[in-house]
Amino acid sequence: MVELNGIRLRNRTVTSASLLGYGARPANRFFPYGLSPVGQFVPLERLGAVTTRTLTLEPREGHFTTRTDWRMREWPQLVRRYRGTLRRVDEGWLNAFGWCNIGIEAYFRDYFPRTDHLNRIVSLGGFSGDEFRQLVEVVNERAPAGSIAAVELNVSCHNVNFDFDEIVEDVLAQVVPLSRHPVILKLSPDADYVAHAKLAERHGVAALTAINTVKGLRLDPETGAPLLANRYGGISGRAVKPIALRVVAELRDAGIELPIIATGGIRTFDDCREFFWAGADAVSLGSELFLSSFAGYLASPLAARRVVSLARRVEQYEQTLAHAGPPRLRAVPAA
Ligand SMILES: Cc1cc2nc3c(=O)[nH]c(=O)nc-3n(C[C@H](O)[C@H](O)[C@H](O)COP(=O)(O)O)c2cc1C
Repeated sequence: MVELNGIRLRNRTVTSASLLGYGARPANRFFPYGLSPVGQFVPLERLGAVTTRTLTLEPREGHFTTRTDWRMREWPQLVRRYRGTLRRVDEGWLNAFGWCNIGIEAYFRDYFPRTDHLNRIVSLGGFSGDEFRQLVEVVNERAPAGSIAAVELNVSCHNVNFDFDEIVEDVLAQVVPLSRHPVILKLSPDADYVAHAKLAERHGVAALTAINTVKGLRLDPETGAPLLANRYGGISGRAVKPIALRVVAELRDAGIELPIIATGGIRTFDDCREFFWAGADAVSLGSELFLSSFAGYLASPLAARRVVSLARRVEQYEQTLAHAGPPRLRAVPAA
């Protein structure tokens, strides 16, 4: 067990918001929606925590679908939609799900009871301080103290086409004093993340997650049409790892002391070590380990073994560091 400023994690390896859906299979077991096929082979209870998909007050289709009753003959249509929301591009992934989710009430009714063997971080998304306050009221009521590790505030998503800068301070002012669970603020590499981190410190946030996806665009070279239905999307995976490292290091350079959960292109144990050097306190696994092409998902059991082995190596690494904690870039003397 690791404690980061009141956030209890089973170890320092968690999963990034949404990559494992809500942490449990949907009711229809044969519908490959809601949990990465890789995740189905990982004993998720062995991870530090699993972060849910971002939940909103009302269900949202976003740019994909919340339907889980697609008939087989409708699958081509479903695949087309999927390709309009998620594409493998340039050593990374481009997605615009746009907070496609079943809504917070349905999450607590259908998924929360089935995931109580996991340590959970519940990701929340809204368009005003009031919406975030209402979301936290629901979490306070439905999740007894200690039943989740934290709530994570997603005020950093591109795919809902909203300027979160305007509301960050109001969200923190309303939510942090109200929440009975520790609060994590998720930072965008495209916003003034140092300013947001300072606001987080001032308002009593427990930790930061860095980074959310980087805004990007890809076009079909023949037609000029955007690959994604939302035109722009968020880039994740290998392509963003150096950006995520930069953000973590810059937060530390700016004197931010809050624990940082780092996510951005992590594939190997050495990637984790790099993030710890840059100043992270925990690492979060996302696109590189849980997303694949349809054919690639056939190797999900193998990919799952890589996840388990990576988490084990991070645990062993910590033991070798004894009580020193993860190393920090700022502790390294300048060359
Ligand atoms: C398909 C997909 C869906 C995502 N959905 C969410 C989401 O609902 N909420 C959120 O905060 N981040 C979401 N993210 C961002 C990830 O949690 C993570 O911050 C980002 O992908 C960077 O990490 P990675 O490169 O390791 O994937 C999503 C990323 C992907 C690839």
